[in-house]
Parts: sequence; C-alpha cells; structure tokens
Amino acid sequence: VTEPIRWGILGTAGIARRSFSPGLRAAGGGRAYVVAGRDLESARAYAERNEIEQARQGYESVIDDDDVDAVYVPLPNELHAEWTIAALRAGKAVLCEKPLCATLAQTLEVLREAEERAGLLWEAFVWPFRGQTRRLEEIVTTGEIGEPREVQCSWHFTVTEANNIRLSRELGGGALRDIGCYPISLARWLFQAASVGGIAQAAWNESGVDIEMAGVLSFSGERRLVFGLGFRGPEEQITRVLGPEGEIILTAAYHSSATSLLEVRRNDGTVIDRSTHDAGPSFSDAIRHIHRVLHGEEAPRHLAVDEAPGNAVAIDLLDRSARSGCFERA
Ligand SMILES: NC(=O)c1ccc[n+]([C@@H]2O[C@H](COP(=O)([O-])OP(=O)(O)OC[C@H]3O[C@@H](n4cnc5c(N)ncnc54)[C@H](OP(=O)(O)O)[C@@H]3O)[C@@H](O)[C@H]2O)c1
Repeated sequence: VTEPIRWGILGTAGIARRSFSPGLRAAGGGRAYVVAGRDLESARAYAERNEIEQARQGYESVIDDDDVDAVYVPLPNELHAEWTIAALRAGKAVLCEKPLCATLAQTLEVLREAEERAGLLWEAFVWPFRGQTRRLEEIVTTGEIGEPREVQCSWHFTVTEANNIRLSRELGGGALRDIGCYPISLARWLFQAASVGGIAQAAWNESGVDIEMAGVLSFSGERRLVFGLGFRGPEEQITRVLGPEGEIILTAAYHSSATSLLEVRRNDGTVIDRSTHDAGPSFSDAIRHIHRVLHGEEAPRHLAVDEAPGNAVAIDLLDRSARSGCFERA
C-alpha cells in the first residue's frame, strides 16, 4: 500500500464533494487520486473544483487501476452492490456509502464477497469514529441515565429536485434507506442487540418510494427505536436516548461538528452535561482510521461484515411493514 493512500472515487457525487473530500484533506495521509464519472467533461470539472488529481470516464477505469489503493463508492444505492463487488474483486479497500446496498439480498451478496476475499469494506457511517460517540459510550457505561431503553429520532428536510436519487425507486431511494439507516445503526450499537421486529407507516410517491416514514423498531427487553423521517418537512434533526434516570439529547448524532450539542438531563430536568466533542469534517476520523488500517497501524473496526447485516435486516423488515401494514419480525 502506498504512502499516502491513493483514493479513487466513483461518481461526481454531492456527498463526495461536501463530506468525503474535506474529510480526506483533514485526515492526512491520503490523496484524492482519481474520480470517474459517466461523463468525462463533468468528471474533469468536478476534479478541478475538488482538488482531485485525475478525471476519467467510466467507473471500471478506477477499479482496473493498480495504483488505486482504496475506492469510495458514493453512487445511488442500487449501484452499490455491483461496484463494491467489482472493487473488492480488484483487491481494493472499499468505503461504500450508506446504506451498504438497496436490498437485504444485495447486502448479503456483497458481504459474502468481502468475507471470501478477506476484503476491507466499510459502510460509510462515520459517527462511530467521532469523539461525541466516545462520550455517549461513557455516559451509557457509567450509568448516567441508567440502562437506555428508547432511542428517538426525528429527521426531516425537503427534497425539491424531481430527479434527486432519493425519489427514485429504480435507484434505491426512499427516506428509510437514506436517513432511517442512521438511527437504526445507532440503536443497534447502543442496545448491543439485533432488532427483533418492527412496524412502520409511510407516505409514498408515484414511483413507490417512501418520502416519509414513521415507526418503531423493537429490540429484546422492551427496548425500541421510535423514528419519524422524511423529505418534505422543515430541516430538523434530533436524537434522544432515554433511560430510567434521564436522557441524552443529540443535535447531530451522525455527523457531529464543532456546533453539535450533546446534552444530558436527569429526570428532574437538571442538565448535568452540555458539551461539544468534535471539530473538523465528520468524515476525517473514519478516513484516518482506514489509512491506519491500510498501513498496518490499527486493527480494523466497524467493518461492514460485522455491522451491515443487522442494519439491512432492520431496513428490510421496516420496509415490509410499511408495505403490508403489519408488524413484521426479523
Ligand atoms: N454518509 C453521508 O453522510 C451521506 C450523505 C448523503 C448521501 N449519502 C449517500 O451517498 C450516495 C450518493 O448520494 P448523493 O446525495 O451524493 O447523490 P448524488 O449527488 O446524486 O451523486 C450520485 C452520483 O452517482 C452517479 N450516478 C451513476 N448513475 C446515476 C444515475 N442513474 N442517476 C444519478 N446519478 C448517478 C453520478 O455521478 P456521475 O454522473 O459522475 O457518474 C452522481 O453524481 C447515496 O448512497 C447516499 O445514500 C451519504
């Protein structure tokens, strides 16, 4: 593996511009080596704007390049499986955007490939690598609010462009996959358990995509995630973790920054902590970890083989419930 790590990016995605590229610059030890797009001219313009060394036409040109160490896959969800498998087969480390795949079947296929090749594959949840999450872990393990029994997440924003990938069924869109995957991953981590069932209700667009969804994902021991998500509300995100003695309120649980607040309140209303824990781009810690793993300096953590199956099972059962109107079991 080279020093610095050479990254290849598949697609001229908004998230790669807004989050991955600043994170890579802040992480150090890596280069934005090449971006490939469906159209060469757009890829060139994108490379120039985002300080990427080369631009190419066609994603396979990145996969086939022996000089690329790691591949970032920020494509529409429905394309994640095909290109992640291609990158793993070419021996690359892969950071694939969340959700790892559009369906449970695709997820299991991708993970089989990663396992068989002992490939390094991460689903791009960056929150586990942030300082705020270490504080969250400390609050829970030291019992500051007691044993968490409910995670609540309300997350809305407005999608206006009709051609946004989030509104396309063929591309694996929908609020559950786009944003629901975050609180699902957080609840599974906090409860250290797999979901056992769930019930959800959605509003659908004409192509059959959930543009809003609300529901409950159940865990053993009467623990639950309660969520409301959507693409047609005012911009808001709030996550709460409730325990018998208090609650934790997070204004940005999944992409913490210098302005994200973590607040701990006791049941009598006393605020015992109100703090921020992170600076710099939210992707920087996860990317730094990947660089260290590739250099043999750290053991890999939060690999997709360990985390993605539980997320995909939960998404699948909530999707089935929203379509059937019934409580669905894992
Ligand atoms: N981790 C996070 O914080 C975060 C935040 C937002 C989104 N995401 C995830 O990142 C991925 C991309 O989201 P995004 O918001 O960045 O989307 P986006 O801006 O629309 O980017 C997707 C890219 O995929 C390529 N593409 C290939 N086939 C396409 C098709 N048929 N239609 C549209 N684009 C196509 C396009 O690049 P070319 O035309 O150049 O090939 C496009 O720029 C999704 O999986 C999403 O869930 C993650």
